[in-house]
Amino acid sequence: MRPHVVVNVAVSADGKLSTFERRQVRISGQADFRRVDRLKAGMDAVMVGIGTVLADDPSLTVKDPALITAREAAGRPPHPIRVVVDSNGRCPPEATVFHRGPGQRVVAVSKACPPERRATLGEYATVIVAGDERVDLAALLERLHAIGVERIMVEGGGTLIGALFEEGLVDELYVYIGNMIIGGADAPTLADGPGRSAARPFVRLQLAGMEPCEEGVLLHWRVKKGDESGFT
Ligand SMILES: NC(=O)c1ccc[n+]([C@@H]2O[C@H](COP(=O)([O-])OP(=O)(O)OC[C@H]3O[C@@H](n4cnc5c(N)ncnc54)[C@H](OP(=O)(O)O)[C@@H]3O)[C@@H](O)[C@H]2O)c1
Repeated sequence: MRPHVVVNVAVSADGKLSTFERRQVRISGQADFRRVDRLKAGMDAVMVGIGTVLADDPSLTVKDPALITAREAAGRPPHPIRVVVDSNGRCPPEATVFHRGPGQRVVAVSKACPPERRATLGEYATVIVAGDERVDLAALLERLHAIGVERIMVEGGGTLIGALFEEGLVDELYVYIGNMIIGGADAPTLADGPGRSAARPFVRLQLAGMEPCEEGVLLHWRVKKGDESGFT
């Protein structure tokens, strides 16, 4: 059993998550920010890859005090469990995710993570070991489900999201498309990694919602189950 996995990202009109230097870009505005905060407040956990922690240093907390109060009134912790996928334990101890706001943190490492880094991370987070060289994402999700995570939101970046799609581990996708061109062949996109070739069917999506939001558009997709070739 694994949690329901919801990916949420903001991309530029040309499909980029950030610049080629992996510098964070403000793609959406306050209205979308509040939507994401509401989405996050409904989750048991929020997950990012180590690339996002190193690039953006996010807190991954719920921001709106009213949403935090509502979670607590429902008997839930103020923030979802914050999960960092970090095979080699590169997450710095001073990372904001470890220090802002109360609540459980999880760092998922692989067996390749040096024991001393595992011990250091253990001072700030629950360390889950899954996979030999890289974090085994399916095994990680099973372990998170076992500690009560029913719904998890993935906030990036492209490498982690690409791997989750590749392994059939995504159920829903929210994409805010902003009114800018970032450009650059090396700028991260929504689903990075090697990508699919003619040898494998594409991941297929079903449109569940579409709405203008500020100067961009929000798309909500559900992932279709089962394989379907995209080649003619
Ligand atoms: N616009 C948005 O909504 C948005 C959201 C988030 C991030 N971003 C941007 O995205 C960029 C970061 O994305 P990123 O692709 O560099 O990093 P990422 O996806 O956040 O993290 C990728 C890293 O996760 C680790 N990992 C461990 N196990 C893995 C597995 N099984 N599959 C895949 N990755 C695994 C790998 O590092 P190890 O091998 O060391 O473990 C990998 O390099 C930044 O520029 C950030 O600003 C944008």
